[in-house]
Amino acid sequence: MKQFYGKIGLISLACLLVWVGMAYAVDTPNLAPRKIEIKRGYTEDAAKCIECHAEKTPGIIEDWKLGKMGHAGISCYDCHVVESNSPMASQCSGLKGSKTFISPMVSSKTCARCHPAEVEEFLKSGHADLSRAAVYDKNKAGGALVALQLVHEGAGFLGAEEGSLMNEASRTSGCQMCHGSVVELGPDNKPINSTWPAGVGTLYPDGSVGTCTVCHTRHKFSVAEARKPEACASCHLGPDHPNIEIYLESKHGQRFLTEGEDWEWDSAPGTWQPGDYAAPTCAVCHMSGIGELETTHNVNERLKWDLVHQRSEIRSGVRGDGKKGDKLMRKVCVNCHGATHTEMTMQTLDSAVELYNTYWDGAVKMKKELAEKGLLKKDPWRDGFQELMYYLWHHTGRRARHGAAMNGPDYAHWHGFFQVFQVYKDMEDLYNWRIKNNKIEELSPVMSTGPT
Ligand code: HEC
Ligand code: HEC
Ligand code: HEC
Ligand code: HEC
Ligand code: HEC
Ligand code: HEC
Ligand code: HEC
Ligand code: HEC
Repeated sequence: MKQFYGKIGLISLACLLVWVGMAYAVDTPNLAPRKIEIKRGYTEDAAKCIECHAEKTPGIIEDWKLGKMGHAGISCYDCHVVESNSPMASQCSGLKGSKTFISPMVSSKTCARCHPAEVEEFLKSGHADLSRAAVYDKNKAGGALVALQLVHEGAGFLGAEEGSLMNEASRTSGCQMCHGSVVELGPDNKPINSTWPAGVGTLYPDGSVGTCTVCHTRHKFSVAEARKPEACASCHLGPDHPNIEIYLESKHGQRFLTEGEDWEWDSAPGTWQPGDYAAPTCAVCHMSGIGELETTHNVNERLKWDLVHQRSEIRSGVRGDGKKGDKLMRKVCVNCHGATHTEMTMQTLDSAVELYNTYWDGAVKMKKELAEKGLLKKDPWRDGFQELMYYLWHHTGRRARHGAAMNGPDYAHWHGFFQVFQVYKDMEDLYNWRIKNNKIEELSPVMSTGPT
């Protein structure tokens, strides 16, 4: 017995020494220059990109090597190399004189080679063509959206030259970074006129659409990242669609904020389920597989109402199938709530939509009468009534609807319906004054910052 303990003692001592040695080795800083030399796995051409870029753009390589695709051997070459006759073909300084052509632009078409289902779903969603059209389509809203960006925000009304980069700066720094752009190329096939990089619905020069990296950012392309609410927050925020703010004040957000750090974010695709998390994130309700639902990259699939446009209708056509969407969204909730809870919550949304629509219909009626009597200014941004109508829909009315849909009572009420009725009453006052006096008041009483 004694001998036995003696042996254990010796073994323990040996282990301790090895452990101390290892700990020392780990603690000793590695002062060697960061260099990656690839000896196996990649073709010679693919290895060259990695080796040189490890020195020239270490940030990209360090990120890429941590991602799942880096582990699976999908490299720079797979995504960036293009045919020499591609409209986007160019060469970086490391490839000059070689027969290899690359592009810094990578659209969903490249991802579709290996992920066809995700891309197909994405292209059907509001995140693809519809998103870009909101900013670029000259006919949309009778041209009012393009005019907003160039004539008004872009200082066209102050004489800013049409087509100048300054005239477009509001679009290129704002709208386009969320919605997407139409990429224009210079003679060397590289993007010009601040049209790249851009947001989710970008149209690329080869006709392909969509920037997948808005949710899984490059070059890690992480599923865990896309499942977190922050992945949506760079675009879904602010006075006109405060989705992240609503989420963080909801009970779901409360659980995420208190314990989200300990949730399991990296389960294999399609296997991420309650238990990995205690409350849903944006992705759980709008995209991820849960219970009997499959993951979808079509964010319109689980929606009933159109809560973004001036009057809320049940979704149809390119915006989705609202009746089906309603059924699918309820299938999300019932994983964690009883049927009564889900029914009550959805009923609240329906009646909030009805309430908002009642205000909107009243506003439309007033506007129609003012238009018939010639009591509207041509420039809506100098007309108090029309400015307020914009805020009724685009800011306060959307906040009320989104707050009700996603269980954020402060947004549904104080930033929402409370301001909706105030704006509406001011509109009524302007309407009554104009009808009574048969003229438009001289100065807009509306501070153009509107209700915030
Ligand atoms: C899975 C595909 C994929 C892989 C692998 C990949 N990239 Fe990218 N890369 C992209 C996407 C997508 C973008 C964003 C393009 C866009 O917005 O049009 C991008 C953008 C870039 C850009 C331009 C943006 C910038 O910040 O300058 C560079 C440079 C780049 N990648 C280098 C690399 C290098 C080097 C590697 C190898 C370590 C690599 N990429 C691996 C998909 C990939
Ligand atoms: C010998 C070094 C070297 C090699 C090899 C190399 N690159 Fe580069 N690459 C660079 C440097 C330096 C830059 C940044 C300057 C520039 O854009 O030319 C760059 C830029 C890029 C860009 C951004 C181009 C732009 O217009 O912004 C991409 C994408 C890229 N490389 C991909 C690749 C791919 C893919 C390979 C392999 C097929 C590769 N590189 C091989 C050095 C190299
Ligand atoms: C040449 C094939 C190929 C291309 C091109 C490709 N992928 Fe992948 N992708 C893979 C493979 C293989 C995996 C699985 C890696 C693993 O988990 O072992 C993967 C996994 C992923 C994942 C899951 C990562 C995770 O954290 O679980 C995402 C997200 C992804 N790819 C996005 C993209 C995007 C975006 C593009 C286009 C910019 C793209 N892929 C292009 C092959 C490809
Ligand atoms: C911070 C990101 C961001 C910026 C900047 C932005 N948008 Fe949006 N926009 C969104 C999001 C997110 C939605 C979707 C809201 C929803 O579905 O409820 C949206 C919705 C829209 C819609 C309604 C949907 C449609 O396709 O009809 C239009 C139109 C629109 N935006 C136009 C613009 C214009 C024009 C600009 C610049 C003047 C702009 N947006 C700036 C993020 C942004
Ligand atoms: C609006 C955000 C968003 C955009 C844009 C997006 N993804 Fe995803 N993606 C997600 C989320 C969230 C998941 C995780 C689903 C889950 O929980 O399993 C995911 C998962 C994936 C996976 C893992 C397999 C799967 O289907 O679950 C792949 C591959 C992938 N995405 C590729 C793409 C490609 C390719 C694009 C561009 C067409 C793209 N993603 C655009 C949010 C996004
Ligand atoms: C790069 C910016 C960006 C990111 C990131 C983003 N979105 Fe969007 N999203 C938009 C824009 C822009 C629209 C408006 C599209 C349009 O004009 O119809 C939109 C619309 C939507 C819609 C409504 C679709 C419709 O047709 O009405 C949903 C739902 C949505 N996004 C969910 C998400 C979720 C969930 C995430 C994160 C997992 C996310 N988005 C990430 C920009 C973004
Ligand atoms: C508990 C589930 C849930 C969570 C979490 C959630 N949403 Fe929603 N979302 C909904 C429901 C329900 C609707 C309304 C659906 C309908 O129209 O019937 C909605 C509507 C939307 C819309 C409006 C679409 C339109 O009509 O224009 C956008 C945009 C959106 N969500 C984005 C997000 C983002 C971004 C997050 C995270 C910050 C998020 N959602 C978190 C359930 C959720
Ligand atoms: C992954 C589980 C999960 C899913 C899925 C989920 N919830 Fe929840 N929900 C919770 C938890 C946990 C709470 C906090 C309960 C509490 O406050 O005691 C909560 C609270 C709520 C509340 C606050 C009111 C209350 O019960 O105190 C509402 C409203 C709500 N959920 C609606 C929904 C709707 C609508 C859906 C589907 C679109 C949904 N939830 C999906 C887990 C979930």
